[in-house]
Amino acid sequence: MRLASQIALITGGSGGFGQATCQRFIEEGSTVILADIDEEKLAELALQYRDKSNQVKCMTFDVSDFEKVELGVNGIIAEYGKIDILVNNAGYLPKNDHWLENPIEDWHKVINVNLSGEFYCARAVANQMIERREGRIINISSSAFRHGGVPGGGGVSYTASKAGVVGLTRSLAKALGPYNITVNAIAPGPTLTPMTENWLPQSEDKLTESIPLGRLGTPADIANAALFLASKDASFITGACLDVNGGFTMS
Ligand SMILES: NC(=O)c1ccc[n+]([C@@H]2O[C@H](COP(=O)([O-])OP(=O)(O)OC[C@H]3O[C@@H](n4cnc5c(N)ncnc54)[C@H](O)[C@@H]3O)[C@@H](O)[C@H]2O)c1
Repeated sequence: MRLASQIALITGGSGGFGQATCQRFIEEGSTVILADIDEEKLAELALQYRDKSNQVKCMTFDVSDFEKVELGVNGIIAEYGKIDILVNNAGYLPKNDHWLENPIEDWHKVINVNLSGEFYCARAVANQMIERREGRIINISSSAFRHGGVPGGGGVSYTASKAGVVGLTRSLAKALGPYNITVNAIAPGPTLTPMTENWLPQSEDKLTESIPLGRLGTPADIANAALFLASKDASFITGACLDVNGGFTMS
């Protein structure tokens, strides 16, 4: 068991990557708090995990509202005593990536969820990690920050937010390294999940021509990378951005 007695908070926990990561983490002994804004999906998951209710807790949580994030995190710490692992995974992809047509509010929403949300959650968990001299923060970025985005993949605001996540990761890694807290990012390539189901199937053939491993990623590929970064095997890795995209981008 690579995550025995660990408490993990996974934001965007009811989505594609969130679910796969939860599954992988509980297999390895972690207790998981699935935090998401989608109450309907959370209710379905609470039913699905009813036999594992001591290991999986579903929680309504809006990462773009710092006060609610703090309340939520403090509630988890009061109940479980600690948060060992934060997976900053919640994300928003605008359906329309025509940046000149989208209202300015859409830019703010993307930045608030994808970038500020990751900062808010990291800030809310940091103090108790600092006190305990232990912690793992895993920020989900996107391969878009390297290649500038693919058609359908969210466009300018999304790509900018995911580039910001990499800067946030490096800066937090410096700030928190002296307290034995690692902070790393994962940059997934295009992967079929609810977020991408309206455009990725139509682009799959063209995209896979540019992927040396010849296929799209799966949520399990991302979950395995998160497990590695959360495990003791990654204890000397911080400030890194792990590309999980079959070679679609190389750095
Ligand atoms: N699927 C891909 O191809 C891909 C590629 C690169 C990066 N990503 C990133 O991976 C992460 C997970 O995406 P996914 O593909 O599993 O998509 P998804 O849509 O299945 O999951 C995203 C989850 O985030 C939740 N969410 C949205 N706004 C929120 C908020 N304000 N507070 C809390 N939760 C909120 C949604 O309800 C959803 O459950 C996202 O950050 C996404 O940008 C996805």
